[in-house]
Amino acid sequence: MKKWGMTQRAWALGVGMALSAGMAAAAPDQSTFTPLMQANGCASCHSVNEKIVGPAFQTVAAKYAGDKDAAASLMQSIQNGSRGKWGRIPMPAHPSLSQAELKELATWVLAQKP
Ligand code: HEC
Repeated sequence: MKKWGMTQRAWALGVGMALSAGMAAAAPDQSTFTPLMQANGCASCHSVNEKIVGPAFQTVAAKYAGDKDAAASLMQSIQNGSRGKWGRIPMPAHPSLSQAELKELATWVLAQKP
């Protein structure tokens, strides 16, 4: 009897692990985020493929596809914050980023075409 109990527990643990692995696979994709993005907390509000607090970067790239001023405009939004373009929640400003860093971020976001 005791042995059976152990087996059951082991089985339940296995199912639990399989379930959480499945959930991880379905979670918003942030695996390709650059270290600069990780360091600046972009991941707390954005993912590549799903809206979290802010829009999915794929959706942003799609919206600005073909807009030649897109990089400059996204650099502004990231640096000064943005409100009213995507919904009612504003993005806070990121005043400590350099122009080079802003450019890297904006270019990366625009490359996330769906
Ligand atoms: C506190 C949450 C939050 C953080 C942190 C955040 N964002 Fe956002 N982001 C938002 C929201 C909300 C919007 C939509 C704003 C709007 O409607 O204008 C947005 C919009 C954007 C847009 C689209 C702007 C536009 O002009 O259309 C880009 C690009 C972006 N974020 C990149 C970033 C990057 C890069 C970082 C990290 C440096 C970052 N965000 C950090 C919440 C956040």
